[in-house]
Amino acid sequence: MAETTAAGAASPLAPSWLGVPDDPNRLVPALWAHDAERGPDGQLTVAGLPVGKIKAAHGSPVFVLSEADFRARARAFKNAFDTAFADLCGGVDVYYAGKSFLCTAVATWVREEGLRLDTASGGELAVAARAGTPGELIGLHGNNKSDAEIARALELGVGRIIVDSLDELERVAAIAAARGTDTPGSEAPRAKVMLRLTPGVHAHTHEFIATAHEDQKFGLSMAPGTASADFAGAASEAAASMAEEAVAAAAGHDSIELLGVHCHIGSQIFEPEGFEAAAVRLLEFVAAMRAAYGVALPELDLGGGYGIAYLPGDAPRPAAEIAQALAGVVRATCERLAIAVPRISIEPGRAIVGSTTFTLYEVGTIKDVVVDRPEGGGTAVRRYISVDGGMSDNARPVLYDADYSVVLANRTSDAPAQLARVVGKHCESGDIVVRDAYLPADVRAGDLLAVPGTGAYCWALSSNYNYLARPGVLAVRDGAARWIVRGETEEDLLSRDMGA
Ligand SMILES: Cc1ncc(COP(=O)(O)O)c(C=O)c1O
Repeated sequence: MAETTAAGAASPLAPSWLGVPDDPNRLVPALWAHDAERGPDGQLTVAGLPVGKIKAAHGSPVFVLSEADFRARARAFKNAFDTAFADLCGGVDVYYAGKSFLCTAVATWVREEGLRLDTASGGELAVAARAGTPGELIGLHGNNKSDAEIARALELGVGRIIVDSLDELERVAAIAAARGTDTPGSEAPRAKVMLRLTPGVHAHTHEFIATAHEDQKFGLSMAPGTASADFAGAASEAAASMAEEAVAAAAGHDSIELLGVHCHIGSQIFEPEGFEAAAVRLLEFVAAMRAAYGVALPELDLGGGYGIAYLPGDAPRPAAEIAQALAGVVRATCERLAIAVPRISIEPGRAIVGSTTFTLYEVGTIKDVVVDRPEGGGTAVRRYISVDGGMSDNARPVLYDADYSVVLANRTSDAPAQLARVVGKHCESGDIVVRDAYLPADVRAGDLLAVPGTGAYCWALSSNYNYLARPGVLAVRDGAARWIVRGETEEDLLSRDMGA
């Protein structure tokens, strides 16, 4: 006979960080768009629009994004960094990382709010171009850019190509050199290049580690001894690094304008120390390159990775605090090294779009499964609540063991809280949407669940696994909704199948 857990009491299956909420209907503000709230009838609403209306008009699953919240977060991020760096280098260029979520509307909002756009593929460049983003406000990333992507970027006049390898540097130089110019007698414009360096600093949430070598595919190593065998280097007595070799090579190409250096140290980072350590390493490199080669590196990009709250207990440091801490370190380091403060840029994605969006699902099958208790012997019941989406609209739980929270969205409930696992409809036992959450015990088929914090890397990573149509993204503003990416239809699903 299975030992069941009294509803409303802590479940022995719950992870230690998950407490029983006093009120499972409550929306924890840090997890939601600022204009999401419970309406008078208990329904979740965003910008005044209740989820029942959204479901009736647009179906589910659906990503629901607050446009005002997106714009406010973009502005706030830009303001926080501009304020902190105002008297150091006149502000900061904020490149929204399109990989987190990009479509024409988002690229337009980004521009209207005074941000720039970081792209990572020809496809993302195409969206930027379609939105009319001026080339000089675009950056192009990627560890394996094709010649066609590089050529397209140069055609668009992008403000920076962030070069990831020695090999790519030569390709960019050659493609730029081969380009013609419309003005007789003048040279083709040079390719504006940043070098992506790997400073050996890795950060995630509360901790960072700093090592010499990094075993990963991105960037140019700063560790001594990583230059190619035939490069001697001049920076120091230590064996030269791949990064130093790239600076020397870039400086030798007439077709390249070397703007500066870049790094990206991780994701979902809550504290400033990792960014600070990376900034110090890069500034020391800037000083060393000036001394060794007389090369100026006037721009420094510290990448993205600023964390957001996914769970009620998550408390990332506010952007303003991180910006102030970073500015202090940049100032002190530049003074110590007697170098000019470079123009600073950053590339936040998740911190701008992540919390603007929730995914709305409809509940289907509910199953109470008897499982062994993790400790102390005996059994307990785990409730599996299946919804009409899953790993095809949110791959992060499967890919990264990411945790989310969830609320009953179409109504409130007086029923006690009960531990549940929200799962998708895919043929995969790892198809988990929310691994552990307390939901009212009377959740039933037809109810709506909302999972907050799905703005970043959910739609962007979505797939058609099991031939599910990818959900659309609905932007809500002033009580009205519009598709900024429409959901797929069965016709879309079959449109690329060329038949028998
Ligand atoms: C180079 C680079 N910049 C910026 C970002 C954006 O990171 P986040 O969305 O965590 O801010 C990423 C994410 O992978 C990245 O690789």
